[in-house]
Amino acid sequence: MHIKLKAGHGMRPRPAFVMGVLRMAALLVILIMSAVIWKSCFQQQGAWQTTSSSSTVDLMDGTKCVALTFDDGPHPVYTEQVLDVLEKQQVHATFFLMGKEVECYPQIVKRMHDEGHLIGNHTYSHINICQTSCQEALQEVTRTNDLIYDICQEPVEWFRAPYGCASDSLEQKTQMIWVTWDVDPLDWSCQNADQIVNHIVKNVSENDIILMHDAYPSTVEATERIIVQLREMGYTFVTVEQLMMP
Ligand code: NI
Repeated sequence: MHIKLKAGHGMRPRPAFVMGVLRMAALLVILIMSAVIWKSCFQQQGAWQTTSSSSTVDLMDGTKCVALTFDDGPHPVYTEQVLDVLEKQQVHATFFLMGKEVECYPQIVKRMHDEGHLIGNHTYSHINICQTSCQEALQEVTRTNDLIYDICQEPVEWFRAPYGCASDSLEQKTQMIWVTWDVDPLDWSCQNADQIVNHIVKNVSENDIILMHDAYPSTVEATERIIVQLREMGYTFVTVEQLMMP
């Protein structure tokens, strides 16, 4: 009876004590977890700030950059119209030129260079490098570099392969920086300024390279509208070199 009572008496406070300890333990776990979560968030934020400030200028000064690029020129009519738009809007773009067109219109290439645009190589005759021997492709690239050098007196460092073909072996041999693109409005196919502008405005994001061709009146019209609209969206126009090597 006594033992039973004692045992009974002893049993009653025990669950309360256990519950109290459990509550304390739970509170401690919550506190520790909160501290761990807070610490990891803080560290992540610190890492993001360090990375962004060291790798891109954009987040530091709040600028969103975008690069306009034009392939296949110079065109005898529309390249100068594109240059007029760029001059009026005070924008520098990047032109990937075909050697055989450089040969025909050197004065347009000179103007591009004099006005501060970046000039790149797009092979001599727009060959598909994936279907050409490495030697022949390299000849096309070298010949075009020489032609551009004769006009601008500066070595050509930038290359864009026609059709976006990739070739590791040729890339190594050219010792140039190969450039692709992020936004392709298919301006050569649609030849419609509204469609070009809408595609770019809808798909563009920070640090994108936009692909167009300075060979169509629709592209000339679209170029001016894109500059105006993207500026309203907070974008700053830079060359591919400025974008990739800030
Ligand atoms: Ni092309």
